[in-house]
Amino acid sequence: MTVTIAFGDMTLPRTGTLIVGALADRALTKTAAAVDKRMQGALARAIRASRFTGAEGQFLEVLEPQGMQCSRIIVAGMGKPEAFDALKAEAIGGGVIGRLNGAGETAAMVALDVPAGCKLTAAQVAAHVGYGADLGSYRFDRYRTKVKPEQKPTLETLTVGCEDAAGARRLHAPLGEVARGVELSRNLVSEPANVIYPVSMAAEARKLSRLGAKVEVLGRERMRKLGMGALLGVAQGSEREPQLVIMRWQGGGRRRPIAFVGKGVTFDTGGISIKPAAGMEDMKWDMAGAGVVVGLMRALAGRKAKVNAVGVVGLVENMPSATAQRPGDVVTSMSGQTIEVINTDAEGRLVLADAVWYTQKRFKPEVMIDLATLTGAIIVALGSQHAGLFANDDGLAEGLIAAGTAVGERLWRLPVDDSYADDIRSDIADVKNVGANRSAGSIAGAKFIELFVNKVPWAHLDIAGVAWSKKDKPTVPKGGTGFGVRLLDRFVAERYER
Ligand code: BES
Ligand code: MN
Ligand code: ZN
Repeated sequence: MTVTIAFGDMTLPRTGTLIVGALADRALTKTAAAVDKRMQGALARAIRASRFTGAEGQFLEVLEPQGMQCSRIIVAGMGKPEAFDALKAEAIGGGVIGRLNGAGETAAMVALDVPAGCKLTAAQVAAHVGYGADLGSYRFDRYRTKVKPEQKPTLETLTVGCEDAAGARRLHAPLGEVARGVELSRNLVSEPANVIYPVSMAAEARKLSRLGAKVEVLGRERMRKLGMGALLGVAQGSEREPQLVIMRWQGGGRRRPIAFVGKGVTFDTGGISIKPAAGMEDMKWDMAGAGVVVGLMRALAGRKAKVNAVGVVGLVENMPSATAQRPGDVVTSMSGQTIEVINTDAEGRLVLADAVWYTQKRFKPEVMIDLATLTGAIIVALGSQHAGLFANDDGLAEGLIAAGTAVGERLWRLPVDDSYADDIRSDIADVKNVGANRSAGSIAGAKFIELFVNKVPWAHLDIAGVAWSKKDKPTVPKGGTGFGVRLLDRFVAERYER
């Protein structure tokens, strides 16, 4: 993102910063021990003089180390060798980035040895350190015109040393493409709603054709002809024309595709059921589901995944105006089911109703996964530690949970069984768009979407609590997270490319 990631051998650098590893209980790795010897034991003494124990997440810095040619050494805690995995390697890569930029460093080299007992190869460790550094160096500063020189990131190149540099490079290549997908998703989510609106977001998605994806965009008239009354009802209060974008990556021969559908409300005022002013600016990221689908398609096309994937995003702006839909309006969805719009702020499910129906009808996907910042209630239930998962298929749910755990994007499954169907029954239409009261709000949303999936194996990810982060983490700087890109890329790789 802002740093060039390179791979080289384990020759120690003559300038810049050197990063070496220590294991739990202050055990130095091979390179750290060699450095300590050159420093006549000063590294081990520095460790003893501090609270550094080698636990994961810890770093110790030594400036101008005696006996060394480089200007700084950072010892990174790796924890216990048996527990050291790809995510921990990524966290070191990301953690180092923040420190080096803060220190004004321009060049650095990571020289982590793989400890005995660790399940990763040297190439895997190096590739994931590089990947973590890439993800962690993300910044969104397009609109900051007055950044002082001392606040600007300084690090230009991070070299990751490895006995098998060629192997590390080979493993890192597809991860780099996933990082580009995460970056695209974060950019789309972070852009304000006067810059990213349905037509401009569709234009960004169109750029995926450069990577060999096929992109189609349907406007208002095409959607009207298809009968997408639910999506168009949300859009009707806005000056901005709604768009339905269909992205296809055909890397899997003749198999049926796997489909991803995203909620893309480029700004959610609530409509006539208007939201309170406090915090309403957050609703620029109500298109995160769509942003993740676009980023995921970028990742799959970029790394030429051996899968047939379809990404469909419904892009609308939810505004109050003289033309906006009213609470109580009844709209007819493309499926033919009629919907009583009790609350115009429950708009995401209306957009998805048509997007999901269209996707299953046209593409007959093997599975369909939708992503949406659908409910505030999921934040109340799960905070930002897990996204909500709803599914009509246990195998699909398990596969998604496993993929999420592996990449550090965790899911928690909630029920969508038929005992919740009554909550959204309407007196005058087939269904209404909110539950009876405030109970089980996220489930009511999922149950509503399920009415439009037509029995396809389906999962719904409510990402309202995880799409945006208020604090920096090593591989996820605060702001748009891109949550879901890595998870679904992993899911595709595990389930469709093996
Ligand atoms: N986009 C919101 C959900 C949301 C809220 C996302 C806060 C992120 C942070 C969604 O369109 C919405 O307004 N949902 C309503 C549904 C309710 C009216 C049934 C909600 O959660 O309050
Ligand atoms: Mn809303
Ligand atoms: Zn919304």
